[in-house]
Amino acid sequence: MAATVSLNCTETHHTLTIAPSPTGLSGQIQVPGDKSISHRALMLGAIAQGETQIQGLLLGEDPQSTANCFRAMGATISELNSERVTVQGIGLGQLQEPANILEAGNSGTTMRLMLGLLASQPQRFFTVTGDASLRSRPMSRVIHPLQQMGAQIWSRTGGYAPLAVQGQFLKPIHFHSPIASAQVKSCILLAGLLTEGATTVTEPSLSRDHSERMLRAFGANLTVDPETCSVTVIGGASLFGQSVIVPGDISSAAFWLVAASLVPGSDLLIQNVGVNPTRTGVLDVLTAMEADITWENQREVAGEPVADLRVRSSVLKACTISGEALIPRLIDEIPILAVAASLAQGTTVIRNAAELRVKESDRLAVMATQLTKMGANVTERPDGLEIIGGTALIGAEVDSDTDHRIAMSLAIAALVAQGITTIHRAEAAAVSYPTFVNTLQQVCGNL
Ligand code: S3P
Repeated sequence: MAATVSLNCTETHHTLTIAPSPTGLSGQIQVPGDKSISHRALMLGAIAQGETQIQGLLLGEDPQSTANCFRAMGATISELNSERVTVQGIGLGQLQEPANILEAGNSGTTMRLMLGLLASQPQRFFTVTGDASLRSRPMSRVIHPLQQMGAQIWSRTGGYAPLAVQGQFLKPIHFHSPIASAQVKSCILLAGLLTEGATTVTEPSLSRDHSERMLRAFGANLTVDPETCSVTVIGGASLFGQSVIVPGDISSAAFWLVAASLVPGSDLLIQNVGVNPTRTGVLDVLTAMEADITWENQREVAGEPVADLRVRSSVLKACTISGEALIPRLIDEIPILAVAASLAQGTTVIRNAAELRVKESDRLAVMATQLTKMGANVTERPDGLEIIGGTALIGAEVDSDTDHRIAMSLAIAALVAQGITTIHRAEAAAVSYPTFVNTLQQVCGNL
């Protein structure tokens, strides 16, 4: 047995206790559906004509928020399950005015992408809010370009939710985004669907391109210029319901890639992982750190590249994780890479990652604080972390700060720490990976 895992639940909070032991992680696992693709499948299904079928949807809390918002605006979405979800679309421009406030929960993708659609539905009024974390995350990055298109949006001072939107006929713009953000890009492209003329977004480097792939498949008139990192949508084309197959989420697979790399004697096969090149920065970095990862059974499924990833334990080496092109390709994996770096030989430097401060938590500050409690040598920098690896981690009482990726990263750190680790507010994992603890028990031989 590699570790003993136990979960203590009260009505509101889960405490995860992990005691490691020296045997490796083994077996075959599947990770839940990709969160980004799940949101997009639900949204495009809702605004398309006809029926969309979704296989492999993530059953996490975030896609639930998206489904509930679009149900409130008239789409019929069957109960979420990973087998098959059916969405009866209502057609572009047909979103109904909801009778109440739209609730995006913890989900930045729900709120930001949806805003592009709300702003472009003439004569309808919408209000949107979210949980305490989402209400502290910057929305001006989408409000400002939408306002350039003529949108009417009101926010709390500083651009924070709750937001109110009076839908309008918008005008097309060419938006040069200061950040590589798929949420910003997708928001503007979705607003462009109902806007007469060509709406273009240019990014400093390419962010994840799931929206582009899926919009095209649904019938949008969309062109991509990879040379300039620009995407253009010509408004007015109708979208038609499609069959979507959601691959496993590489951001969820990343926890097992690092865990099996670090726990000696591991040999784990992670099946059906999405390996879209705009998402595989974590594989590039772990390979540079001398992780033993092989790609098997590479294929394309419903317009997205997929592979099975085999990972065996190895001695990781430090590396530098920086650069405008790389960081967006692993933006959600930096917390778990910080765990890898804490155990790797040498000093890992993470730079150009200030965006992490405005995720579900300030992930630079929280990872530095929590890993330090476990004995790691981490220095926080304005735009990254400096981690001197190679010292043993020690079990401690740590806290997720209600951030799903922090909760799971700390659980993996606990697998390789000496002694018992207790992770408070571990229920956060359900945002993107509700079955995380089950899989943890499975790979540790606890099930
Ligand atoms: C996402 C884009 C990224 C990522 C988030 C999901 C998406 O955010 O961190 O988890 O689905 O478009 P940014 O666009 O803010 O970088």
